[in-house]
Amino acid sequence: MKNILVTGGAGFIGSHTIVELLNKGYNPIILDNFSNSEKFIIDRLKSLTGKKEIKLYEADCTVKSNVLKVFENEKIDGVIHFAAFKAVGESFSKPLEYHKNNVNSLTVLLECMKEHNVDNLVFSSSCTVYGDTEHSPVSEESVKNKPTSPYGRTKAYCEAILNDYSTDEKSKLNAVMLRYFNPIGAHPSGEIGELPLGPPNNLVPYITQTAAGLREELTIFGGDYKTDDGTCLRDYIHVVDVAVAHVASLDWLAERSNELESFNLGSGKGDSVLHVVKTFEKVSNTKVNYKIGERRIGDVTTVYADCAKANKVLNWKTKFSLEDALQHAWQWQLNLKKQ
Ligand code: WQD
Repeated sequence: MKNILVTGGAGFIGSHTIVELLNKGYNPIILDNFSNSEKFIIDRLKSLTGKKEIKLYEADCTVKSNVLKVFENEKIDGVIHFAAFKAVGESFSKPLEYHKNNVNSLTVLLECMKEHNVDNLVFSSSCTVYGDTEHSPVSEESVKNKPTSPYGRTKAYCEAILNDYSTDEKSKLNAVMLRYFNPIGAHPSGEIGELPLGPPNNLVPYITQTAAGLREELTIFGGDYKTDDGTCLRDYIHVVDVAVAHVASLDWLAERSNELESFNLGSGKGDSVLHVVKTFEKVSNTKVNYKIGERRIGDVTTVYADCAKANKVLNWKTKFSLEDALQHAWQWQLNLKKQ
């Protein structure tokens, strides 16, 4: 398996995965409409990996003719499907856009894969499919409550589509669904990282932009949760660790057929919002101006991963710490400021 179509390959996790694919000798082909990413990242990827050329198709992957064009022009051996909207909070104000984009892009992709006899797929799923879990760590078999946001529901529907499609006896789908917890940080080189367009929805870019003086003040959404310090717990995982897991998934699929497996991608521990803020202040030696505000709709109190399955089956585990991720996120923010 060599030629990998990477939808959303210019995005946050996508771009870091392109680096790891190239490092492992794969040939990634990027399909991205740059709705949530910027073109200069492509040049950064070339300079980071020493590649003179990285194939790029600029198009919307909910339009079948766009996706078919890639399959007709390239000999695709496998697909990593990142392209989706991904902000829990934002999905409440744009539910139709989230469902249209996230679900249609998958069904269009599966049709094109079927028409071109491409079976291998790594799907970008999410811990939000677990809903408001009573307990953590959550394993892949955890009783899944209903997702608490339109975003989480789009991911649950996509997983259901993959499950239904895999039971079609004519299907040769060979897929992995990776349930990300909270990807944060940036490449240690400081050359690529998270690029939220507009005010960040996610915690860490909001912290780094506040520390850099681009935002007035961070609002911590809720200080009255049933946790030690009253703020929500999440499982923050370095984006490079997440990227490496995608390559490990392709390697795993290459030795198999007709698989459909889900894997949690997290650090295996829960950190509170306040702890992340304090840890950031420590590693960056920079104060973060914040206040405790109202809870945000759709937030669950606590969720963090049991990653034993990915550790064992994919022979993958995290290498970076929360401190590393926050340090790399800060370095990336400082580099952006210099641009
Ligand atoms: C984290 C915590 C907020 C912003 C993310 C991804 C989603 C999925 C799951 C992959 C929460 C608090 C945030 C702010 C805050 N990952 N917060 N002030 O909602 O856990 O979802 O992980 O699929 O794609 O978005 O991440 O960073 O938005 O929030 O207090 O300005 O930080 O309330 O407790 P979330 P997040």
